[in-house]
Amino acid sequence: MGRIHVLSEQVANKIAAGEVVERPASVVKELLENALDAGATRIRVDVEAGGKRLIQITDNGCGMVRDDALLCFERHATSKIRTDLDLNTIATLGFRGEALPSIASVARVHLETRATTGETQNSAGTLVEINGGNILRVEEAGLPQGTSIAVRDLFFNTPARRKFLKAESTELSHIATLVTHYALAHPEKHFELHSATNALLMAPPVAGYRERVYQVFGKDTLDSLLSIAAVLPFDRMGLPHPPPWRREADAEPPEPGELRLRGFASKPELQKLNRNSIYIFANGRLIRDRLIQHAITEAYRNILPNGVFPVVLLFLEMPATEVDVNVHPSKTEVRFRQSVVVHDFVRDTVRAALMKNRPVPQFASEIAAHPTASPALTPGAQAAGFLAAAQAWREQYAPGQSPSGNGPGGFFFQAPSIASLSARLNFEGSIVVDANAAVPVAQISNPQAQRIPDNGCAPPIPEAIEDEPTLESLRTLRPLGQIRNSFILAVNEDGLWIVDQHVAHERVLFEKILRLREVKKVESQRLLLPLIIDLTPAQQAVFAEIADELNSNGFEADTFGSSTLAIKVAPSGLEAAEIERMLHELFDQCTGEQALNMELVRTRIAASIACHAAIKVNMPLEQNKMEWLLAELARTDFPFSCPHGRPVVLRYSMKDIQKAFKRI
Ligand SMILES: Nc1ncnc2c1ncn2[C@@H]1O[C@H](COP(=O)(O)OP(=O)(O)O)[C@@H](O)[C@H]1O
Ligand SMILES: [Mg+2]
Repeated sequence: MGRIHVLSEQVANKIAAGEVVERPASVVKELLENALDAGATRIRVDVEAGGKRLIQITDNGCGMVRDDALLCFERHATSKIRTDLDLNTIATLGFRGEALPSIASVARVHLETRATTGETQNSAGTLVEINGGNILRVEEAGLPQGTSIAVRDLFFNTPARRKFLKAESTELSHIATLVTHYALAHPEKHFELHSATNALLMAPPVAGYRERVYQVFGKDTLDSLLSIAAVLPFDRMGLPHPPPWRREADAEPPEPGELRLRGFASKPELQKLNRNSIYIFANGRLIRDRLIQHAITEAYRNILPNGVFPVVLLFLEMPATEVDVNVHPSKTEVRFRQSVVVHDFVRDTVRAALMKNRPVPQFASEIAAHPTASPALTPGAQAAGFLAAAQAWREQYAPGQSPSGNGPGGFFFQAPSIASLSARLNFEGSIVVDANAAVPVAQISNPQAQRIPDNGCAPPIPEAIEDEPTLESLRTLRPLGQIRNSFILAVNEDGLWIVDQHVAHERVLFEKILRLREVKKVESQRLLLPLIIDLTPAQQAVFAEIADELNSNGFEADTFGSSTLAIKVAPSGLEAAEIERMLHELFDQCTGEQALNMELVRTRIAASIACHAAIKVNMPLEQNKMEWLLAELARTDFPFSCPHGRPVVLRYSMKDIQKAFKRI
């Protein structure tokens, strides 16, 4: 007996319809989802010419009997839903019954399948050949259990669409990224991706997400990510099912269920130029969701600079009734039935993980970011050839791509290089960065170097070596002096620290201003002479919108005509020249934005005042001033990065020191 049926017109009409085959990766996505829905535990993907010549997916899932092997190419033929009520509780990745017919109409498809269940256990397999939607051959054949679908010459009969395909390497990197992410979402399954003779991914089953990340991307990537795990019981059902009027009178109402969130979020040092490294899965389905994207942006607010993005992998699990996947034909958009709950939970969980960790940038990772390291890199553009594609998705997760401090928007990224990660753990880079590095440092920079026997002259340091610093460790810092009147050198039991005095003070002021703003007590000063500022028309428009917020932050301004502003009162600590610079910077940041988000404006104002009022570099500081600054920094919520996301402190840990001196 077959499992597939053609949906009634009434149900079919309720399904978000549209084309799903856009490029080779979309074919791979549909076929992968079918294999997963078929319960496969082993999935192998083979491609040639970036999927343009061949895409073949072989699984060990439930397979299909002969009738189904033919029916699956009909429109709206599916085994996954029957009635429109089923659309409310979709537990499978597919449900539209449109993928196979769409693919078969624009390619040469060869299907081999053999069902594995029930009475059909011993039946032979079926082979179907279908070209551009026309069935050429249907035969019985002795086949292994499961399904293999080969899709050749995609768009052979629609040359216009074929022309739109990108270079093979680009298409391949899309496929590689996709397969990798499905592999990440299903650590318990075996995934393989081969391109011609290259194995791009080999991922046998592992125990969990962590192990999968380790297996696919390696230890360094895992180290740059924070684990996320949290559960929230839903208070109510997003959509009762069955609806109350269909329930038996004495039926127990179903449990509302819970929202589970697992995954990884990158530490603030890892920064990307676009959102391409944010992957969100809802009930095992890869989705592009603006709500969750927004929650993530919120979680990283004031931790990452504007315009840069983290690496995030999130796996959301919830009852099928809580998420509507029938929104868009490619099924990548969903609607959460309790969207505010989901949004806030994601934001708060990711934020909490970041706050808890508050990682201290290590010397090595900062050194890797120095501006001369490499040419600019546009993510995704570097894939050339098979290995490059494999490298591309690996690279998406390779740490070390932090901004070089070339100003907002002008970040330079380190060239893709996996091998260099281990090399970066030593201090080789510091010699490149700092021409004054002492000779003994140069000698210890060989990554292969081992511990040197001490012949008893160097007894071990007795303290237990803690590598991960805690917030406590900031409180015990003792300043020793400044480097070039700009960086405070400090020590404690954890090691040697360098604190950027400007950004440290910036962080302190930023949090203070936000705090005082909250209780409407921002300190301000009356200027001796009003400060006159000319505004461009765009700036005038911005001023009109944010004038109230500026008032709440300690500014008092009068307008003369429409293009001149007279500032009479300003937040204390800002010098006149800085006030003007600060306001221009703020107006520019807000210009061109569609709708100003006042909360964002508030943090921008605080960040901007903090930046312009903070102690500058090249400023000598007395011992007690340094002590004060370090103590204030230790009291902040997020002492390790400035409001623009730059690191505040660097640490040369005791372990690094011991290693460098070949004591461990
Ligand atoms: N790899 C597979 N193993 C077993 N059955 C499959 C496989 N691929 C497709 N099918 C069957 O073919 C049907 C149609 O597939 P498809 O066109 O992708 O629609 P949908 O996945 O939306 O149901 C599926 O419902 C399923 O029963
Ligand atoms: Mg499908």
